[in-house]
This record gives sequence, structure tokens and C-alpha cells, in this order.
Amino acid sequence: MNNSTPNAGLIYVIEDDSTTATITRILLEKALVGSRVQLYANGQQALERLTLARQAGASHLPSLILLDLNMPLMDGWEFLDACNHLTMGEPVCIMVLTSSINPEDRAKAACYQNVAGFFSKPLDTSTIERILRLRRAASGPTQRTAATGTEAPLHHLMYQSRATAPMGDAELTQLLTQSRAFNAAHDITGILLYSQGNIIQLLEGPEPNIRTVFARILRDARHTSIIKLADGPIRKRLFAQWTMGFRTAAPTDFANLLGYINPQHTDRLAPADPDLQELLVAFAAE
Ligand SMILES: Cc1cc2nc3c(=O)[nH]c(=O)nc-3n(C[C@H](O)[C@H](O)[C@H](O)COP(=O)(O)O)c2cc1C
Repeated sequence: MNNSTPNAGLIYVIEDDSTTATITRILLEKALVGSRVQLYANGQQALERLTLARQAGASHLPSLILLDLNMPLMDGWEFLDACNHLTMGEPVCIMVLTSSINPEDRAKAACYQNVAGFFSKPLDTSTIERILRLRRAASGPTQRTAATGTEAPLHHLMYQSRATAPMGDAELTQLLTQSRAFNAAHDITGILLYSQGNIIQLLEGPEPNIRTVFARILRDARHTSIIKLADGPIRKRLFAQWTMGFRTAAPTDFANLLGYINPQHTDRLAPADPDLQELLVAFAAE
């Protein structure tokens, strides 16, 4: 087992209704052979366990937490707030599992970085499979296997920016882990290219989700001088398998690529140009 990542087979179910909790455990253990499901009747119990697990090392952390919202003692929201204050190194993937059908709850849950999905009870086998697929997508490495179908038209947005301070491995890993959890839950794919403080990012997915994530990215103080390079509808994704692929690039390669896509360059390739798409994919594959 890798000591720096959560225990892939360990799952917490935080649920006050003991019948629902037991059914959830049975379904999970059936769907994920070798998994170990621990049940907690409220957020407080789970938080105490999680704090101890964190002290014992990342490999003692669960890879997935299924969280009910309405519970006594400490409810799901309080648990999420408390988790935000626990620095866990490798963030744990949390899915909300609730009887609430309130769209405001769904929107509120999406604002938590650790929350990768929102599902309604009662659970059935196909929901369990979706949860497990999403967990794989959110926890990476970067492969996106879930095809969370959506009706909204596909859109892409590409921008360049400049890091406010150079990003080392730790900063980039933190950024990517954060991004992938959110992207996996919102059907967003793409790639982030980084070269000595220069950034190009391509985001693809349902248009409203792209707008939401880009609004967050614009507010982010970790980068500046953001210039949009492309923003429009697409027929298919270039990076369908990646919740956010990542490449570092040599400065000269990066400058060459930017030369092809920057609107300020006269010989730029249009965003939908197959040559540009091929170039990006080739660049990412290197
Ligand atoms: C270069 C760069 C790329 C980013 N890409 C994403 C991304 O693809 N998805 C994502 O959820 N957050 C991404 N983020 C992080 C967001 O900017 C933001 O920090 C995060 O979504 C939390 O937003 P909030 O603080 O408004 O809740 C990126 C940040 C930077 C600096």
C-alpha cells in the first residue's frame, strides 16, 4: 500500500439511520470486493475517527466518505466545515448521500472542495456503481472514467495566465487534486500546461459548469494576467479521459504552442482548427 495516499479499500458511511447504513454497507462491500466499510451514526463520531486516522498517516484515511446531511449531534454541513479545517495532505473524497431534494443543498455541497458528488437516497446498485466510478475519477491519478451524462451543450474555454509565485511540485499537486475533485463532479475535462510560471489551461464540459469553474479560476490569487484564448461550443472533447491532465513543458515548446493559439499572433490557429487540436493532444501526450 502507498503510505502517502488514502487506503483504497476503506470507506466511511456517516448515516444516523441504522437500516440505511447497513444496506449501504452491504451494497458497497458487494460492489467493491475487499473493501472495508466503517459506519458512523453522526459527523462527530466520524470526525474523531478521522482525526486519529490522520495522525496515524495518510494510508489510514478512507478513500471515500458517504455523508448524510441531516443527523443529530453533528450534521453533514458541520462535518464538512470541520473537514475543511483538518489538513489531511491528500484530500479525502466525500459524496453526499441524502434524502434532501433541495437544489440549494446540491449547490451548497458543490462549493466544498472535498465533495465530489451529490446523490439521493435510497441507494441502489447503479448509484453505488456511479459513486465508485466518480471516486476513481476524483482520486485520480487523472483518468476520468465516469461519463456523467448531461443535456447541456459542450463548450470549451482556454486561457493563458502567469503564476503570481513560482509553483513547485507541492503547490501544483495541491492545485490539481483540488481541481480534479471538482471537475470530476461537474463533468469537466481538460488539460493544464505549466512552464516556469506560465500557464495554459483548456477546460471542456457543459457550458454552465465551465462558466462556474472559470469564475472561480478568475478569482484565484495564485495567478494573474489571465487572457482568454478560446471560448465557444465544441462537438466533442479533446481530453475526455482526463478530469484535468497536466504537463510541464520546456519554455521554448511552451512559447511555440502559445504562438499558435494567442489571438495577438497573426498566424494563430483558430480554436476549432484540427491542427491546433492535434498539436494540443500531441503536446499533452509527450
Ligand atoms: C491555474 C489554475 C487552474 C485551476 N483549475 C481549476 C479547475 O480546473 N477546477 C477547479 O475546480 N479549480 C481550479 N482551480 C482552483 C480555483 O481557482 C479555485 O481555487 C477553487 O475552485 C476554489 O474556489 P473558491 O475558493 O472560490 O471556492 C484552478 C486554479 C488555478 C490557479
